[in-house]
Amino acid sequence: MYRKTYVEIDCETLENNIKEIKEKYNQYKYYIGVVKNNAYGHGIECVKYMIKGGINYLAVSSLEEALKLRNIEKDIPILILEPISYEGIDIAIKNNLTITIDDKKYFDLLLKTKKNIKFHLKIDTGMNRFGLKNKEDVKYIVDNSNDNLYLEGIYTQLSKGIGTEFIREKNNFENITSLIDLNKIPIVHIERSLTLEQHNKLPYDNGIRLGIIMYGFNKKKYNLSWKRKLYNRLTLKKDNFVPSILNLKTILKFYTTVLEIKDVVSGEIVGYGDLYDTKKEIKIAILPYGFADFLFVNTNYVYINNKKYNIIANYMDVTSIIIDDDVKIGDKVEIFGDNISIRKASEIANQNVYKLLTSITNRVPRVYKYKKEIKEVEY
Ligand SMILES: Cc1ncc(COP(=O)(O)O)c(C=O)c1O
Repeated sequence: MYRKTYVEIDCETLENNIKEIKEKYNQYKYYIGVVKNNAYGHGIECVKYMIKGGINYLAVSSLEEALKLRNIEKDIPILILEPISYEGIDIAIKNNLTITIDDKKYFDLLLKTKKNIKFHLKIDTGMNRFGLKNKEDVKYIVDNSNDNLYLEGIYTQLSKGIGTEFIREKNNFENITSLIDLNKIPIVHIERSLTLEQHNKLPYDNGIRLGIIMYGFNKKKYNLSWKRKLYNRLTLKKDNFVPSILNLKTILKFYTTVLEIKDVVSGEIVGYGDLYDTKKEIKIAILPYGFADFLFVNTNYVYINNKKYNIIANYMDVTSIIIDDDVKIGDKVEIFGDNISIRKASEIANQNVYKLLTSITNRVPRVYKYKKEIKEVEY
């Protein structure tokens, strides 16, 4: 790495997060790690530590993501969550990938062309995204699947996943699958990170899809801002969150370095279009990261040697901050880490953590730390 802007991933903590989840919620057989979009921005190098922690199935969005993952993980089952186009079927078969089916015509086409592939059937319980809503179609697919076109699993994605919404969607699932016997399907996975802690396991569920929780984010553990509390109260109505029993930690830190330092005299401007108008003499540092590295770049401030410095300008590749005499060229700069949590940064940027994490682009190298090993990966 020559440009010292990088993400650091603590792989031991990732492994421990998963062990902690499995220890406290040990009633599932399949722990499906959702690693779409380069493992929520953490990088697919993380996957091997997830497997060490106990993940025994993986899920990604697309065939492209699945193929990249299969390149590094030869044996673990991989489910593609989005239905794939027919022209991708042969390559999916060749790479032992599991597909999602949510359409009767598509199922019939695979049946007619005698494709030999494992699939999970997706049910739509309320999001109106992917999934079947019609119970007769569900029965037809279940009845006509066979050892070649093999129905390995059935699932839905819950929209809100808590309180009354959860009950409504659970009832929808039970209704849409009422003509089939769920016990005859090897993997039934309804739950995701949020619902794991908020509800008891459903009797027919034996798998859980773990996404954001693996990376250290769960509900109720954080001191939420008054804005977030108000938002939760208004949007979640009367539903209250069950307090978390999980001891999880986030695993991602984001750093850059002071590249240059400049004195700016009173009356000069900083940035395009008079972005910052100096009223008095200031000292600024130029940092080598911008919105091409991290979309929600304006997180107001950064930390250098545990001291806070305000951001005054962001560009595609560069950010400027006001500094004092303590800052030197080459100093390490925390964009988020020990002083600025990802939660805090996401609140400042007014984005949820999913968006914040996945907006760190692949231009930023990821540095993986596991015990004494350090490995740098460019995606
Ligand atoms: C189908 C599906 N399952 C599971 C997940 C994981 O969700 P979460 O990160 O909330 O656990 C996602 C994430 O978007 C998803 O689309």
